[in-house]
Amino acid sequence: MRYAAQKGTKDILPSEIHNWQLAERTFADVCHSFGYEEIRIPTFEQTDLFQRGVGDTTDVVTKEMYTFEDKGGRSITLRPEGTAGVVRSYIENGMSSLALPVRLFYNITAFRYEKMQKGRYREFHQFGLESFGAKGPDIDAEIISVVDVFFKKMGLKNIALHINSIGCPTCRNAYNTLLKDYFRPHVSTMCEDCQARFEKNPLRMIDCKVDGGKNIVKNAPRLIDHLCDDCREHFEGLKARLDGIGISYTIDPNIVRGLDYYTRTVFEFVSENVGTQGTICGGGRYDGLVGLMEGPETPGIGFAMGVERLLLEAEAQGALSEKPSYVKIYIASMSENAKIEALKLCYSMRQAGIGCETDMAGRSFKAQMKYAGKQGIPFLAVIGDDELSTGEVKVKCMADGSETPVKLDGLVEFMAGK
Ligand code: HAM
Repeated sequence: MRYAAQKGTKDILPSEIHNWQLAERTFADVCHSFGYEEIRIPTFEQTDLFQRGVGDTTDVVTKEMYTFEDKGGRSITLRPEGTAGVVRSYIENGMSSLALPVRLFYNITAFRYEKMQKGRYREFHQFGLESFGAKGPDIDAEIISVVDVFFKKMGLKNIALHINSIGCPTCRNAYNTLLKDYFRPHVSTMCEDCQARFEKNPLRMIDCKVDGGKNIVKNAPRLIDHLCDDCREHFEGLKARLDGIGISYTIDPNIVRGLDYYTRTVFEFVSENVGTQGTICGGGRYDGLVGLMEGPETPGIGFAMGVERLLLEAEAQGALSEKPSYVKIYIASMSENAKIEALKLCYSMRQAGIGCETDMAGRSFKAQMKYAGKQGIPFLAVIGDDELSTGEVKVKCMADGSETPVKLDGLVEFMAGK
């Protein structure tokens, strides 16, 4: 039997890994420049953490989680996202005693049992960050700036920022009543999920993905028109900050986000290049989540970005980079003694951080040359008995064919300058 990668998973091959590594380094650098520090959280958590944190009326929790019983009889879930785990860690490790805001970023895999399509996988990667303890709109503008700066550093343009406010429990309660009054005459014609959401969480009905319901949803009252004074002021504050920094945005009253923990600011960065979903990055404020998870009441805000979607976007914009050549020089050898010298030189070079290769496959001299050419290694040195007796080798630059005589004991120094 030939095995294949599981549906919704994929290998990231050496031919593409440099793009991932560049994105990872760039994201970490940008986060560091804003004062964020990396956190690494476990891949699985107890199931209840997500049910409670993400919300038990969300698609993620009701339909998409990889949940199983472990050998100790515990219900375990592979993380479908990072926020719930980071919040757990924040509380468990007493981070509320640190200077606020506590700024954390992460680079994780996440798992959702979703229908496969372009930009949508069952195992995917997220760059994300969470910030705890700041309640004003400054931090909302800060985390949006992180994404903006990151996109610029990745050479990406024209990724549209959509923002909205979905209010706080005060305005949400009043709005839910309004929404229920609006949906009541239609609910029996709506999808099964929406019928269940009507009583439990009518706001989630705005996110209905079933076409038949769309027009009803489209004409529903908009939360942004019913914000309480504090939430309105917060949203105006965010807009003023984005205007001041010079980050353009569109107000999109239809963003409600697919997870239950959000309050006030929600936002998405969208592009047509990444499949029907279009969202490269999504996030928002979750002022009640730390308290809900039995930590000290603490405002929070964050985002996560799908790395596969980010790279699809980079590819569509022609912003992917060439594969770098890590190996700088190939040392071909023409005899057993020459091979030992080549091994010795490679050993010294690697200690000096210079990438080099010599034959490991018992190739003939001709085959070694062919291999080095095929790999595109930029420099070549050939060691035979003559080179061993003179103690000097010619280093050939493959780009222009020029040859430079170099002492064997000076080769490391010579290559260090290349
Ligand atoms: P989310 O919107 O569920 O938010 O996911 C964030 C991003 O992850 C999406 O915009 C998308 O790029 C990517 N993504 C989600 N599902 C898939 C999938 N099946 N395949 C590929 N990419 C996917 C969250 O996860 C929140 N935890 C974000 C957040 C952090 N909010 C506050 N803090």
